[in-house]
Amino acid sequence: MGKKNCSIGLCDMQTIIHCSIFIFFVGGLATISFYKNNKQQVSITVTLTNVSVNTIETLVLDHRRRFKSAPPLSLATTCDLFSGRWVHDNKTQYYPLYKEHECPYLEETFACQTYGRKDTKYLHWRWQPHGCNFPRFDAKAVVERLRGKRLLFVGDSLNRNQWNSMICMLHSSIPGVKSAGADLNGLLYTFRATDYNISVDFYWAPMLVESNGDSPTNHHGNSRMVAIKAIENHAKHWVNSDILIFNSFHWWRSPELRLLKSAESLLDDHPNQEYEEVDCYLAYKVGLKTWSDWVRAHIDPLKTKLYFMGATATHSKARDWGGMKHGNCYRETEPVMDDRFWESQTDLKMMSILESSLSELKSTGVNVQIINITQLTQCRKDGHTTVYRKHWRPLTEEQKKNPQLDSDCSHWCVPGVPDIWNELLLAYIFQ
Ligand SMILES: *[C@@H]1O[C@H](CO)[C@@H](O)[C@H](O)[C@H]1NC(C)=O
Ligand SMILES: *[C@@H]1O[C@H](CO)[C@@H](O)[C@H](O)[C@H]1NC(C)=O
Ligand SMILES: *[C@@H]1O[C@H](CO)[C@@H](O)[C@H](O)[C@H]1NC(C)=O
Ligand SMILES: *[C@@H]1O[C@H](CO)[C@@H](O)[C@H](O)[C@H]1NC(C)=O
Repeated sequence: MGKKNCSIGLCDMQTIIHCSIFIFFVGGLATISFYKNNKQQVSITVTLTNVSVNTIETLVLDHRRRFKSAPPLSLATTCDLFSGRWVHDNKTQYYPLYKEHECPYLEETFACQTYGRKDTKYLHWRWQPHGCNFPRFDAKAVVERLRGKRLLFVGDSLNRNQWNSMICMLHSSIPGVKSAGADLNGLLYTFRATDYNISVDFYWAPMLVESNGDSPTNHHGNSRMVAIKAIENHAKHWVNSDILIFNSFHWWRSPELRLLKSAESLLDDHPNQEYEEVDCYLAYKVGLKTWSDWVRAHIDPLKTKLYFMGATATHSKARDWGGMKHGNCYRETEPVMDDRFWESQTDLKMMSILESSLSELKSTGVNVQIINITQLTQCRKDGHTTVYRKHWRPLTEEQKKNPQLDSDCSHWCVPGVPDIWNELLLAYIFQ
């Protein structure tokens, strides 16, 4: 039942497959070339671009005041940061938090302006939760508090999108030697700041458990095969972290999922491995169970803070917002201004599976804080990379004639919407 409902639009699926292919096609060796020039020192000291000193002071003070006056309760009990609206703000120059050319670590897949995006309004939106404010990003304060810590993002290319935004937000405020690179045959992307002993890393495990999507070089194909009970080969690389940020959602929304019946690893390569075909809901549930069990057994929640990023919108159907019949996010330059907007591709049933997984974990004493960016991304049809990114293969004639066919409506321009996810994440980390 419901198999059809699981699958995201064909366009989208292609985008995701396509993107993950081109992100990982080149593998570990070529990774360094993704970074523009990682030794380049950028001489700005604050990430607030071109703001007068007075304004910076006001922002910092504001921020402290808010922290001071706030009772030591969890953010969640005082306000729902995830329910709000977008406010256009081209007056304070607070956004964007940094400029594209100021980030030497920006990947070519997210560098929209470098690849020809001309409109800039998408850079100037502030997220305003209903009924409260959250502490604005203060790069220097954040960097001090991250001293000696390792942040690790684990998941799919959307988490990688967020990781890339995070290092762009932080790097200019960290003094000393910094470098970025790849490790573990391209599974691990690293950012290191030596003097401050800060690591901000990304680990590729799109389904958290093992799957045939794990290879950095070869995970094409429409048939998703998942070793639903095997996680250790990935997870052994996650333990040594102070802050773990997971995501996993879109890869489960495949029309066909084949789950390995035994608890073996796909890497074992047994000849007679048996699979069972299930729908995406069951697969997601069982996959999250394997992940939860691992978290409970291996992570001390007093030592490691745990977060899970919510699902993001993929604006593949312009008709959702009254657009053209076969349109998607291509050429969108404004958000949807109705904050109740909900696109047809965001599957509430999948999200409720994540919700119950996390609350089950919580009942055993392990709190994984959800950073629920689902509503926040709904309206931002203007924030995607679309055609403004590096193409790893020449466009076909059809794509040239019809650029929207090649429009990536899953990933997001950096700087852009992922910066807000990180502001919210950091608000929780340092609440
Ligand atoms: C910063 O602002 C000044 C004027 O206040 C302007 O001349 C300059 O071009 C701005 N720089 C950038 C990078 O926007
Ligand atoms: C700022 O935004 C308003 C609309 O919200 C627009 O009319 C105005 O031209 C913008 N100003 C600049 C400097 O971009
Ligand atoms: C650097 O930070 C890591 C944690 O990320 C810690 O294990 C290590 O001891 C730190 N090293 C130094 C020299 O402080
Ligand atoms: C996230 O928030 C939406 C409302 O915007 C809610 O429907 C959904 O269940 C929440 N998801 C999770 C995983 O908590």
